[in-house]
Amino acid sequence: MKKEVRSAVIAGNWKMNKTPAETTQLINEMKPLVKDADCKVVLCVPFVDIDAAVKAAEGSNIEIGAENCHFKSSGAYTGEVSAEMLVACGVKYVVIGHSERRQYFGETDQTVNLRTKAALDAGLTAIVCVGETLEQRELGYTETLLKFQTKMALTNVSAEQLKNVIIAYEPVWAIGTGVTATAEQADEGNGYVRAAIAEAYGADVAETVTVQYGGSMNAKNADELLSMVNVDGGLIGGASLKAEDFSVIVKAASK
Ligand code: 13P
Repeated sequence: MKKEVRSAVIAGNWKMNKTPAETTQLINEMKPLVKDADCKVVLCVPFVDIDAAVKAAEGSNIEIGAENCHFKSSGAYTGEVSAEMLVACGVKYVVIGHSERRQYFGETDQTVNLRTKAALDAGLTAIVCVGETLEQRELGYTETLLKFQTKMALTNVSAEQLKNVIIAYEPVWAIGTGVTATAEQADEGNGYVRAAIAEAYGADVAETVTVQYGGSMNAKNADELLSMVNVDGGLIGGASLKAEDFSVIVKAASK
């Protein structure tokens, strides 16, 4: 982390877990554990849990995010939710282009870009996910792919709007597998993302962008991962569903 130039952000991604009642309970458990955090604390929750999450987090240092948004503000898009709708519900962040959406729901670099721009236009902070598969890594394409995905996601995003962008480097092979990238691999991947931003916006701007690592980050490995200069926080799946584990990661980012 390099807190003197960029914000440290620990964000949970609950994926398809928790009912509204469970949401209230979990956030109430987390609040006292993370109240002294010296980093931003965000929980990205399923659409149906947003109302409960916003209410439970009120008056605390926890901010609420969603896990996706559509690129139009309204219209005939059955099953979708717009960025404006999220803002109206008290949402501040939104995860865009998670590899599970790319893998299972036909998300492409182009739709990731459209959704990112829609989120930014609506005033949300976009947490844009990039990451290589194991096959791509083994073929030696990690750097090329991360730079391509990053630049595609940020096409036509202004330097001003970039202030509301977080990039999460999530190697697909490390997500939900228990196989974490080594601290060096995480730092290298995040470094490629930062280099892509530097190529597009200049090195000074790139130095200010928060780049998270995600993929089996947990209470045990958070300290080491977050000690790396290019790792400015984490996007946490499984461990964000447990108050104690999540709070240990928040504490690691608060040092
Ligand atoms: P896990 O922490 O469960 O590996 O998930 C990471 C992730 O996909 C966060 O978006």
